[in-house]
Amino acid sequence: MKNLILALFVIFCLACQQKTETSSNYYQEKYRPQFHFTPEKGWMNDPNGLVYYDGEYHLFYQHNPDSTVWGPMHWGHAISKDLVNWEHLPIALYPDSLGYIFSGSIVVDENNTTGFQTGKEKPLVAIFTYHDMVKEKAGRNDRESQGIAYSLDKGRTWTKYAQNPVIPNKGDTDFRDPKVFWHQASKHWIMPLAVGKKLEIFTSPNLKNWQKVSEFGLKESINDGVWECPDLISFKIEEGTEKWVLIQNIGRGAINGGSGTQYFVGNFDGKTFTNDNSPTTKLWLDYGADNYAGVTWFNAPNNEKIYIGWMSNWDDYANIVPTSTWRSGMTVPRKLSLIKTTEGYRLAQLPVKQLESLRISNTDIPKQTISNTVTIDNKSALNELDLSFDLSNSTSTEVGFILSNSKGEKLIVGLDKTSKQIFIDRTNAGKSDFSSKFAKKHTVPFFDSKELIIKALIDKASIEVFVNDGKIALTDLFFPTEEYTKIELYSKGGDSELLAGRLYPLKSIWVKK
Ligand code: FRU
Repeated sequence: MKNLILALFVIFCLACQQKTETSSNYYQEKYRPQFHFTPEKGWMNDPNGLVYYDGEYHLFYQHNPDSTVWGPMHWGHAISKDLVNWEHLPIALYPDSLGYIFSGSIVVDENNTTGFQTGKEKPLVAIFTYHDMVKEKAGRNDRESQGIAYSLDKGRTWTKYAQNPVIPNKGDTDFRDPKVFWHQASKHWIMPLAVGKKLEIFTSPNLKNWQKVSEFGLKESINDGVWECPDLISFKIEEGTEKWVLIQNIGRGAINGGSGTQYFVGNFDGKTFTNDNSPTTKLWLDYGADNYAGVTWFNAPNNEKIYIGWMSNWDDYANIVPTSTWRSGMTVPRKLSLIKTTEGYRLAQLPVKQLESLRISNTDIPKQTISNTVTIDNKSALNELDLSFDLSNSTSTEVGFILSNSKGEKLIVGLDKTSKQIFIDRTNAGKSDFSSKFAKKHTVPFFDSKELIIKALIDKASIEVFVNDGKIALTDLFFPTEEYTKIELYSKGGDSELLAGRLYPLKSIWVKK
């Protein structure tokens, strides 16, 4: 008996120790983002089913729970009240006899057009792509179809529609990623769908019966990249008028290599999208290498367009980046706006304001002339950095900042005034042996000669750079063998005038409750 009590005591102590270890190690692995969303374990790619309902932002995502590489696709699920702190919920959608659950969207069926509503909660209806691996292995083209599922308890549990698929496949190999919205003027549901290297638009009165009404993009397609994850959104521009933006993810051929996100600005009449620009005008939502499959939240408060993307590069190295128990994170949520420029309307984006709640302190970097390098006092690997430079009053040929560690690994963000390019240079940023496509410099044309305003978000192994109020965005991953804790401002070829600067160390959102 005495031995039994002793054994139970030892087991109890071991269990306690185990628990403490788990809590204190939670989200502490090397390269684990601290204020970006990542799955607890396993593989993640596209954000899916972004919907706001009853005070909660839902983030579903392409998820392989049993491996850190892509495989059988489920929809993982998390919710947030503020777009900053996330709570993981159980997997929402599992593969079934019709296939893996590929990307898609969720709408709030406010007027019960589906007839799914039984009580007071509005139905949340998920519209997604089924990918049938049996058909794929048999070499059949009709492997992808569209299905729906609904939830009557705020997204907690889901019922798949008994008559799936709602849109069968007529022979298109790539036929996926429905991003549905309600079009008030025509009182119909609209479904932009990526089909091969173009977009098809379907409409429906009830989310169950769909009719194809138009196509867009064959003239706009670049290289051999298939179109994936479209999103058609509208912005109020003047009293009563609106402009439409088609966000279009492209599997290959992006400006800085691999997969990336283009957008088109134009009009939509309830059936057809028309492009304001010539088919050869290429507008990029992000110029970094690591922002893909991003789309916006349905039903966000005040009709805001809140966007989130997957921070990786499908075509180049998504499955082999050197993380451990999980693979991939999302960008921070960003608020999109449409601004008028001399060339027409263009997207701008900035991190959502709510992220400011993560600022721990506030270090002023005073106005000064930078002649060579200036080190900013910094102890953190999680930072928000704001810098503004007066370009008209400086003699330098290059200006920017450098993140580095004691191993001499560094990431450089700057403006090269000779080539008129903003860049992120991760050539010597740390580990890159996993892919010959990783150690590169990514560039964006930049023609403003008056001012350079940079906001950068740095989180262990990623940087998001927003230039001149978000008119340009770049997102890149990097993998230093030791954390970067040094930040230097630099000027080359002459002096640069820093007008103002601020550094905010940020706190982690991942504390086990
Ligand atoms: C984009 C994508 C989608 C597809 C999903 C599969 O990254 O290829 O087109 O639905 O990922 O996981």
